Amino acid sequence: MTSPLTPTFVATDIDQIKDATGILAIFVPEAGTLDATARRVNRLTRGAVARLVESDSFEKMAEGKASMLAYPVNVAAEGVIVVKLSRRPDMGVARKAGAMIAKLADGKETHVLCGNLRRAEEVALGLALRVYDFNDHFTKDATDPGAVTFMVNDPDAATKAAEANGAIADGVFFTRDLVNEPANILTTTEFANRLDELSKLGLKVKILEEDELTKLGMGSLLCVGQGSDSPSKVVVMEWMGGDKADQPFALVGKGVVFDTGGISLKPAGGMEDMTMDMGGAGVVAGVMKTLATRKAKTNVVGLVGLVENMPSGNAVRPGDVVTSMKGDTIEVINTDAEGRLVLADVLWYAQETYNPIGMINLATLTGAIIIGLGHENAGVFSNNDALANAFLKAANAEEEGAWRMPMGKAYDDQLKSRVADMKNVGGRPAGSITAAQFLERFVKPETPWCHLDIAGVASLKTESDFAPKGATGWGVRALNRLIADNFEGE
Ligand code: BES
Ligand code: MN
Ligand code: ZN
Repeated sequence: MTSPLTPTFVATDIDQIKDATGILAIFVPEAGTLDATARRVNRLTRGAVARLVESDSFEKMAEGKASMLAYPVNVAAEGVIVVKLSRRPDMGVARKAGAMIAKLADGKETHVLCGNLRRAEEVALGLALRVYDFNDHFTKDATDPGAVTFMVNDPDAATKAAEANGAIADGVFFTRDLVNEPANILTTTEFANRLDELSKLGLKVKILEEDELTKLGMGSLLCVGQGSDSPSKVVVMEWMGGDKADQPFALVGKGVVFDTGGISLKPAGGMEDMTMDMGGAGVVAGVMKTLATRKAKTNVVGLVGLVENMPSGNAVRPGDVVTSMKGDTIEVINTDAEGRLVLADVLWYAQETYNPIGMINLATLTGAIIIGLGHENAGVFSNNDALANAFLKAANAEEEGAWRMPMGKAYDDQLKSRVADMKNVGGRPAGSITAAQFLERFVKPETPWCHLDIAGVASLKTESDFAPKGATGWGVRALNRLIADNFEGE
């Protein structure tokens, strides 16, 4: 897997700056405010830093943005990144500044000269998130990023402050690696194996195989994978870092390792993108890794349904009727509406087994959510205003776009079937909402629940503030914060 970048923090040593190799990054709030390290770099560049900082373009530059001076500071250093940043930046601006540095340094060894800058650990997180590169499958040019060293006035304090953020980066990288991985490599079995590895961090990982799922009566989940040679699985990851007596919070993820559509086959164009259809399961896995890495004082159980949706002689047909673990029967009208069939049984299993205090599921569930919200926001559907608002607050703090969508009986009515308790699709109108209504039929009214439709945000064709093209890891930060702020002791 792609090696994550771990920044190191060392004490500021102004005399060492002249011998630093690679790229130097300095922070300047505005013209006339160079600190001791910036003044040192300014002298080494024969005044180029001061000239930039006093220019119109620097004055017009937004906070958190940066400019590269390709000025050789010494024989070894190749250039200086001048970041416009106050000495006490907001968390979000500090992270964006870090991401800017990563972008401009472009994988080269970097010395980030922070001095007494507040939130150096947030600069480090932004930088690490943007440095990530999924390059496992290149045989050439797969260079790992150069080392990044932060020079700070108090390295012990900075190292400690950066610990929780390191756990977040680890979780996000885990999610991105899973989502970026092609489906011939990340089969259901390989996915389960990678989750099993998390037991090294103290998570209890259980893998439920097809015979067990059959015994549990998961006819809805099992019908999706029945056309594939990869066996369907449910993987349960328990993190019990809180009081033993406390009910856990549950996270549930759609893990369709590849979605061809099944017999209701998708068109060829763009089908390769369906390698990311396990994005919900990927985020659940990433959050569990973060919680275990930072030893969160809380009980959270992560459950993922891993299946592959393939057409074959054994595949489920349009018109087939299946019985869910809950007992309700489902007429499968469209085999491409498979995510909800998987989640129905995992949601029910989660409630029956754990009686969770709250439950959030994530899924790349509908193309319709991309029509509605684009790639800027995930759709948030909920039966509980308090939980939905707590999630929206956490997502807002982490600048992960999320937008509440409506639900209601009129939408649910679209799911009436002539031959079974429900059908798996409504009509064309409000496709994301009828999908959410389908899921809600498998949520007990007393369980506070949110469904996050992440089809538009899990993976992008363009780079974003904190990620290169491809998997974003959207939601790992927001869910980690939701748990830390609402469901965690001390
Ligand atoms: N995995 C897709 C949804 C999707 C589409 C995710 C685009 C990411 C990008 C899902 O299983 C699906 O095929 N949904 C159908 C539902 C329809 C048949 C009711 C869709 O959105 O077209
Ligand atoms: Mn589908
Ligand atoms: Zn799908």
